[in-house]
Amino acid sequence: MNLKLDRARAFLFDLDGVLTDTSELHFKAWRQLAEELGLTFTREDNEALRGVSRRASLDLLLKGKPCSEQQAAAWMDLKNDYYLELVEQMTPQDLLPGTLDVLWMLRERGIKTAIVSSSKNARLVVERLKLGRWVDELIDGNAPVPSKPAPDLFILAAQRLGVQAGECVVVEDAEAGIEAARAGGMQCVGLGPQQRVGQADLVCQNLVELRSFLQIYQPV
Ligand code: BG6
Ligand code: MG
Repeated sequence: MNLKLDRARAFLFDLDGVLTDTSELHFKAWRQLAEELGLTFTREDNEALRGVSRRASLDLLLKGKPCSEQQAAAWMDLKNDYYLELVEQMTPQDLLPGTLDVLWMLRERGIKTAIVSSSKNARLVVERLKLGRWVDELIDGNAPVPSKPAPDLFILAAQRLGVQAGECVVVEDAEAGIEAARAGGMQCVGLGPQQRVGQADLVCQNLVELRSFLQIYQPV
């Protein structure tokens, strides 16, 4: 455990897989497309797509099957339509346990918060979850900067919040997100199994465990 919270002034939360389990919805949408293309796409295959951009996800799904850029764009649109149908059914019940407790605890301690997602649909998901008023900033995949694993989305969030990179703690469930945080000079909490998020400064199973950690760790 290398995490040091003495300097922390902001927490930057990934959305998909951290505050809500949309990876299941992405899985269902990609699987529907895969079935139509006659491809196999399993839950294990889906794990490799965690935190990966839409375009890179399509490449992983196609497993080398050739396609033109025009065809790729059409397939991505189709997958996104399936995904949006599922997002429409989301409610605040879909927040992962511990989400509001952690956000509330940070606010009480004067720590700023942002949601920082590679997803172009993040704003809609945040609306469905009624989460907007719980955070200070939302940066999504529509920002005109490279996506994770590049650090740019996190750096943009720090700028918007008026804090230095070294004062930010990122909370991520994906390897690509942890890589982005590190590249940006930020500390990182990884949520999930050690083999996936072991590069983080602190590994927790979920937000409930992170909340317990924050409760015990007083210098914040
Ligand atoms: C990330 C998800 O947050 O956003 C990925 O973890 C997803 O699974 C990526 O592919 C892009 O999302 P979207 O909604 O723009 O296709
Ligand atoms: Mg994620």
